[in-house]
Amino acid sequence: MTLSQNDQKKLLAVKAASFVEYGMLLGLGTGSTVDIFISTLGEKFGSLKDLEIVPTSLDSAHKASKLGIKVLEPKMDLKPDLLIDGADEVASDLSMIKGGGGALLWEKIVAQNSKKRIYMADSTKLVRELGHFLLPIEVVLFGHEWTHNDLKKIFSFVSIRKTGAGEILKTNSGNVIYDCQITDGIEIGVLDTDLCQIPGVNNISAKTVLEKFGNMFTLMSEIRKDVQCLNGIMVESKGKTRKLAKNVIQNIVHYLGA
Ligand code: 5RP
Repeated sequence: MTLSQNDQKKLLAVKAASFVEYGMLLGLGTGSTVDIFISTLGEKFGSLKDLEIVPTSLDSAHKASKLGIKVLEPKMDLKPDLLIDGADEVASDLSMIKGGGGALLWEKIVAQNSKKRIYMADSTKLVRELGHFLLPIEVVLFGHEWTHNDLKKIFSFVSIRKTGAGEILKTNSGNVIYDCQITDGIEIGVLDTDLCQIPGVNNISAKTVLEKFGNMFTLMSEIRKDVQCLNGIMVESKGKTRKLAKNVIQNIVHYLGA
């Protein structure tokens, strides 16, 4: 039996919610999987007023506060215990594209400052190599058309993201987003270096999407029990060693049926 994408998201959300304990400070991601996760939290805890989150977007902040969850600003001594977020594309080497919902910069900042991270990716997000999904790059508004020229030297297709009404979309930090087609076979590390040479590219956001989560470990074996008919993965990062990451990669390759 194949589960629908929505049912997969629900399953991943329930699993992710099982890692949340009352009184935790959560980093709250952005997107439809996270939306399902938020309602799952409601089902798990009933009242959410003792949960606190640092949001990765104004949208998530708004949704959380509507449910009575306390929304906190990032502060010097405040480190989320756990970030829960979705993903747009996850490759078998664990490189990942995020930012489909336009929240990539805040997502990266919260992820980097969280003690643990869990990404919920249903089977439609899993690929052998990145590049089916256009790579979002957050670009500083000033001079963005010059930055567009620079991006065109690297990518085969570059398009500024617009709202439904046809306006240029501005991120929560007032930047713009260019969605870019990754060329086949390109080395992610090289791409990362090239992007960091472009002054208008927000380096942090570029890294968000290109970061190889070399220090990840997965909850795969546990997940597999729960979601046998699901190719979804959920990955948690916790500063583990490279050696561990290698096992993870093998696991995932195996799980993808390679
Ligand atoms: C938002 C993101 C989302 O996590 C990503 O787009 C996945 O979204 P969804 O859960 O709706 O598929 O990166 O910027």
